Amino acid sequence: MSVALETKGLTKDYRSPVKEPGLWGGVKALFDRKYKDTRAVDGVSFSIQEGELVGFLGANGAGKTTTLKMLSGLLTPTSGEAVALGHVPWKRESEFQKKISLVMGQRTQLWWEIPAYETFRLNQAIYGISESDFRRNLDELVDLLELGDHLTVPVKKLSLGQRMRAEMAAALLHQPRLLLLDEPTIGLDVVMQKKVRDFIRDYAKRRKATVLLTSHNMGDVVELCSRVIVIERGAIVFDGPLKRVVERYAPHRVIRADFEREVPARELESIGRVRECGETRAVIEVPRREVSARAADLLSRFPVADLTVEETPIEEVVREIFRGGPA
Ligand SMILES: Nc1ncnc2c1ncn2[C@@H]1O[C@H](COP(=O)(O)OP(=O)(O)OP(=O)(O)O)[C@@H](O)[C@H]1O
Ligand SMILES: [Mg+2]
Repeated sequence: MSVALETKGLTKDYRSPVKEPGLWGGVKALFDRKYKDTRAVDGVSFSIQEGELVGFLGANGAGKTTTLKMLSGLLTPTSGEAVALGHVPWKRESEFQKKISLVMGQRTQLWWEIPAYETFRLNQAIYGISESDFRRNLDELVDLLELGDHLTVPVKKLSLGQRMRAEMAAALLHQPRLLLLDEPTIGLDVVMQKKVRDFIRDYAKRRKATVLLTSHNMGDVVELCSRVIVIERGAIVFDGPLKRVVERYAPHRVIRADFEREVPARELESIGRVRECGETRAVIEVPRREVSARAADLLSRFPVADLTVEETPIEEVVREIFRGGPA
């Protein structure tokens, strides 16, 4: 296995003009412009092997899109290094462009007024795809993405789901080995989300492609990624298996207990935080590390009939990350 993508200390500051308030501030700014730098990405380092599917997670404004833009060569970093498939992305070598694709769910690369097929033909020329490869790839994509006749009507007449699939096809026609996907399922209904996900998984497997994807849709992450990288305020705070995210972002586990007779909620508070308490049932939240000690305590001091210990569902954990929750 070789490394597909590697970054070291990747950093990006955005420079924006500061305007003093009022009319005079505006006039002054014309002559004496002041700038403010915002650090959007702050020393990001990671390494992704060929063929890996990695989720890139973080709250709004954490720096995900900025990172993907640098990795695809759209933005030049303020400092730091990156190598993607043997290239420095922001040198924008044509050999590099042929091997990667950045798909942004919120932005279209298709021409609005003309059928997607025409854009594909344009891309064929840009990427130097031979006629036979073009036909073979297009047939495969039309089939996998169920594009049917959608490619021959002007893009503006397509539904969002149809457009998004055409978008995917446009991005994959040149068979990139590295896919950078920024919110690939945004705005799609559940059925369409599943189709796009299945497609990404299939494509990656068939082509042994590497995928780095951001999403606010936990379904995408849970279904596609076994590894996740979590970014907070521009810096990486977690990089590892999806399963381990749970330990990090869900510091509690939940004990569910049935009792032989009624137990007052007040007395259960010595075990942990009581989330729910019925007459003979209770749900208690306890610190992850102390779960066995607390469960033993519960068993010895209360008339327990049945007891289960539950893991926080991964969906909840991912939701917590998006909120910029505890770490
Ligand atoms: N062109 C820009 N000029 C100035 N600041 C920017 C620019 N683009 C992004 N930023 C700022 O950089 C930070 C990171 O933004 P970025 O778009 O990378 O976040 P994100 O993780 O993709 O968020 P979201 O989940 O909302 O898409 C934010 O504080 C944002 O306001
Ligand atoms: Mg973004």
